[in-house]
Amino acid sequence: MDFVRHLLVFLHLLGMALLIGTLMLQLKAGKDAPLNKGWLHGSALQLVTGIALMLLAPLTHQDYNHVKLGVKLLVLVVIGVLAVLYVTKERAPRWLPQTLGGLVVLNVGLAVFWA
Ligand code: HEM
Repeated sequence: MDFVRHLLVFLHLLGMALLIGTLMLQLKAGKDAPLNKGWLHGSALQLVTGIALMLLAPLTHQDYNHVKLGVKLLVLVVIGVLAVLYVTKERAPRWLPQTLGGLVVLNVGLAVFWA
């Protein structure tokens, strides 16, 4: 079961990298660009791997802080809802890339600094 947890953490960290990479691409694309679909893929990957890690906790003998995971889930839901709302628009609003990037960085901070 240790291997499964490591695999999920591996994918969870790649999902984080995908979101940060998408932020870079989005900023490089300029202010008239549409929202990059990487936001959807990255947040979906974080959702699936994060929930799987949480649900497997009894089997992987992990004692996670559920309040912290609840807050991370809430932040991710905001990211996902914003991505779904704006991905079909011709151009992303100017405030959106920084907001999405800020929320991703917030979740990294919560993951690392909140015991
Ligand atoms: C943008 C969204 C997210 C980002 C950027 C993110 C980032 C991270 C990072 C960097 C870690 C590693 C922390 C460390 O090992 O010290 C981590 C661990 C973890 N995350 Fe997330 N996370 C996100 C969303 C979620 C969600 C929604 C859940 C579940 C509700 C979740 C559940 C977990 C769990 C259970 C771990 C611990 C894994 C372990 O070491 O066993 N994450 N996350």
